Amino acid sequence: MRTFEIAVIEGDGIGVDVTREAIKVLEAAGGVDEAEFSWNYFPWGTDYYFEHGRMAAEDYLDQLAPHDALLLGAVGHPEVQDHITLNGLLLPIRRRFDQAICLRPAFLYEGVPSPLRDKPAESIDMLVFRENTEGEYANIGGRLYQHSDHDVAVQTSVFTRRGCERIIRAAFEKAMTRPRKRVASITKSNAQGYGMVLWDETFAAVAAEYPAIETESLLIDRAAMEFVRRPESFDVVVASNLFGDILTDLAAIVVGSMGLAASANIAIERKNLSMFEPVHGSAPDIAGQGIANPLAAILSAAMMLEHLELPRAAASVHAAVKMLLAEGELLPPDLGGTARTEVVGDRVAALVGE
Ligand code: NAI
Ligand code: MG
Repeated sequence: MRTFEIAVIEGDGIGVDVTREAIKVLEAAGGVDEAEFSWNYFPWGTDYYFEHGRMAAEDYLDQLAPHDALLLGAVGHPEVQDHITLNGLLLPIRRRFDQAICLRPAFLYEGVPSPLRDKPAESIDMLVFRENTEGEYANIGGRLYQHSDHDVAVQTSVFTRRGCERIIRAAFEKAMTRPRKRVASITKSNAQGYGMVLWDETFAAVAAEYPAIETESLLIDRAAMEFVRRPESFDVVVASNLFGDILTDLAAIVVGSMGLAASANIAIERKNLSMFEPVHGSAPDIAGQGIANPLAAILSAAMMLEHLELPRAAASVHAAVKMLLAEGELLPPDLGGTARTEVVGDRVAALVGE
């Protein structure tokens, strides 16, 4: 039996509910690979902020560091500005642990109606590699004349060759293991004549090392259109921090719902902490109602199992989710059913055991 120490930040809104279900499923799946988990819960998020004036303990990154992985629900609250919640908790985690790769699959399961209704199940199967430490999220800039009517804000993107190269290379390496062997790069070098040009140059240089891979380069606006028009043509997609963020909400809805969109923040050095969280946020519009779809959190947990090298456990979760969706009897409201969050979690956990 191997034991893993997992840090858990349930966070805000539906983050709490969906994380609970993910843990239920992990408890069931661990045994499949002779693994056990010990959960360390950290009460950080906006409740903590209201009490302490900060999103997390001052030394929170040090407290997280020794764990084998981090499960996160979501952070965000209608009464706190989003830049405070994000920069006070989530983004420093990605940077401190150098979680340079944000992996986001979009897969059209049997039993899930895509808004693009004529697409057969499994015809859409893309994996987005989002650069996760720099780019448009660098948080460099400033304000001038802030409290006057002619105030000025400067927000700078940061693109480094190292940052571009490692995400692009990771995308090509993954594409080599997938049957279709395609990589699409998302750019905007027509308008962003420095950062995105460096991105394009790096993409071309890395692509030259992988002649077996078919490549294309698309401007972000064109990509948004093609994600809807020909989603099945995409295999691996590599994008900057902001573009990857935007496109993965789009990819999520193309394959049915935000409630299915999983995400992994992978530390480029294995010794650093990696973090697993659904793509969605705290969904204040449905928080506290017990109707959030927990499958995005559960599929993110399955990505954690893969990362921890528990492939049988990961496969058992994927199989259970597929079965639940194909059965179609216990679907949550976002997928057209009436099943409550915990009922969906219970059913997936039960199917994992079968
Ligand atoms: P959101 O992802 O929370 O919600 C978008 C829409 O999708 C809402 O209509 C919501 O009800 C629905 N939805 C999301 N997840 C769902 C699920 N599991 N089941 C069923 N329906 C689901 O995005 P929004 O509304 O833009 O942001 C809300 C808050 O979350 C903000 O404070 C934002 O900053 C934060 N946020 C945090 C993230 C994180 O912690 N990584 C990521 C995205 C947003
Ligand atoms: Mg997002």
